Amino acid sequence: MSTWLVTGSSRGIGLELCKVLLAKGHQVIGACRNPEGCRDHWELSSDFKSKFKSIKLDVLNDDDIQKLPEAIGDQPLDCLINNAGVLLGEKDRLVNLNYDELLKSFQVNTIAPMKITASLIPSLSKSKNPKVSHITSKMGSITDNTSGGYHAYRMSKAALNMFHKGFSKDFPMICSLVLHPGWVQTSMGGSSAPIAPIDSAEGLIDVIERATIRDSGSFFDFRGERIPW
Ligand SMILES: NC(=O)c1ccc[n+]([C@@H]2O[C@H](COP(=O)([O-])OP(=O)(O)OC[C@H]3O[C@@H](n4cnc5c(N)ncnc54)[C@H](OP(=O)(O)O)[C@@H]3O)[C@@H](O)[C@H]2O)c1
Repeated sequence: MSTWLVTGSSRGIGLELCKVLLAKGHQVIGACRNPEGCRDHWELSSDFKSKFKSIKLDVLNDDDIQKLPEAIGDQPLDCLINNAGVLLGEKDRLVNLNYDELLKSFQVNTIAPMKITASLIPSLSKSKNPKVSHITSKMGSITDNTSGGYHAYRMSKAALNMFHKGFSKDFPMICSLVLHPGWVQTSMGGSSAPIAPIDSAEGLIDVIERATIRDSGSFFDFRGERIPW
């Protein structure tokens, strides 16, 4: 049994990651913007009393980020999953780009995972086998960008990928991964997406659990296939 923290766990892939981890017997800290208003968190707290802890984290709120180590306490944190993300300005082309949305994409998708990771280094350092995984997207792959558009999303995820690569060099004792979850049926992915949240979550956790320090710095999808940068 190990301790995991998942951001953006109110719904979608983040919620499913919590459910799969709990079913496997892990200790899970589910972070979300509004724990009091999240029915799924009430249910997990009632079904997994000693295993699930719901905490408040708006990834744009520096106070919430500063309080994360307090929520974990003295125990080691074995795995952080930076999952919270936004897809903004999908229809924008360069001539009508909404720069506020571009900025917000960077704040949520790139800068927040950096701040959260930094604040949790002391807790991760207490683990014998610490891991950090960021849920990125294949849309952040420069090689894979054959269709253009989606500038805010693509750029913010590509920048997250670059942060991850640098982090893996700066912190060689922490196994760092960026993971594409597939095209998943969530409010972000839409109802035409071919992959169910549970299949994505099970795959992602399997990839993280199997990863060793030799994999640190890699970009995989939820099936463990390597994705080109
Ligand atoms: N679905 C796909 O096909 C797909 C494909 C590639 C990558 N991804 C990535 O997978 C991750 C999860 O996506 P999803 O499909 O599960 O999306 P989703 O259903 O839209 O859920 C997004 C999650 O992020 C949270 N979030 C957004 N802004 C936040 C903030 N400021 N503070 C805290 N939490 C915040 C949301 O919380 P609230 O409930 O409070 O809004 C929600 O829990 C994202 O990083 C996304 O980019 C998804």
